[in-house]
Amino acid sequence: MQRVFSAAQPTGTPHLGNYLGFLKQAVELQESYDCIYSIVDLHALTVPRDPDVLRNDILGVAALYLACGLDPKKSILFVQSDVKEHAELCWLLNTLTKISELKLMHQFKEKSKEHPESINMGLFDYPVLMAADILLYNTDLVPIGEDQKQHVELTREIARRWNMRFGQTFTLPKAHIAKTGARIMSLLDPAKKMAKSASSAQSYVSLLDDAHTVRQKIKRAVTDSGSEITLSPAKPALSNLLAIYHLLSNKTFVELEARYKGRGYGEFKSDLAEVVVAFLSPIQERYTALLKKPKKLHEMLSDGAARARIIAVSTMKKVRANIGIGI
Ligand code: TYM
Repeated sequence: MQRVFSAAQPTGTPHLGNYLGFLKQAVELQESYDCIYSIVDLHALTVPRDPDVLRNDILGVAALYLACGLDPKKSILFVQSDVKEHAELCWLLNTLTKISELKLMHQFKEKSKEHPESINMGLFDYPVLMAADILLYNTDLVPIGEDQKQHVELTREIARRWNMRFGQTFTLPKAHIAKTGARIMSLLDPAKKMAKSASSAQSYVSLLDDAHTVRQKIKRAVTDSGSEITLSPAKPALSNLLAIYHLLSNKTFVELEARYKGRGYGEFKSDLAEVVVAFLSPIQERYTALLKKPKKLHEMLSDGAARARIIAVSTMKKVRANIGIGI
């Protein structure tokens, strides 16, 4: 059975972009792949974080993933820092990664602009830790949003280099990117992707936004000129809203265009808001119930880490022997 690995950072509450670009696929892939999913707390430390907030976010994100359908009976779910091999492999991969390659990473360039006061080594090395995450588990497929494609390409390059130098060790992973939903855009600016780090919370729908907030955010979402509801590159803001509607309702774009023919943006947006509210409310109910049992969540994560560790330790045995360390 092919192996799937992916991960997300515990930085606040995930938004619809995280769900549609990553989580939705992660849940679907559980049915036919051997899946491992990680909450990457070490990656989250590349921007300044309050320790108590981080602790809470890790548990909150775990609860939210379960509420969205990740099932610990079908997949392994664990916290990255609970498996020390991630940091060790990252160090070894660093020795084969060129600074010039890391300087090309879009995310590093963007984040350095966002946080000019804290461009730290962790931020620069972020893609190599990500490569370690993926390569530790002999991953075939990595479900991700469009923004992470470059990091998976670098992972493939590092793996190829290692295999050339030390013999076949790592599987070359492939990015698994959804046709629609891989790049959900900001509700306020269709040229920017939906992101937690955006200056205004109006630009994204968090998976924990209440019904009133969702309705208000969608009502205020920017639209394009003209009142026709059609999917078109000339209408990027509307196309983004249509993509969200399509993915959450399973209605095709053609069905949606037909349904809103001759009707205005107002009606379209108010129906979309109800689709989002109906999608989020059962998730939020399950989330609240799960958070009431933190001990159970901790046990589930520590069981996940134990299962992940078995695979990671076995990979590291090979890797250490390859490179000439360890006995
Ligand atoms: P994070 O937490 O920033 O994002 C988690 C996932 O959400 C996707 N995503 C989006 N998809 C569509 N539209 C958007 N607007 C949008 N915003 C975010 C991201 O592409 C990602 O798939 N670097 C990873 C975390 C990571 C990882 C890994 C992923 C660390 N190690 C190994 C895969 C494999 C990240 O971006 O997390």
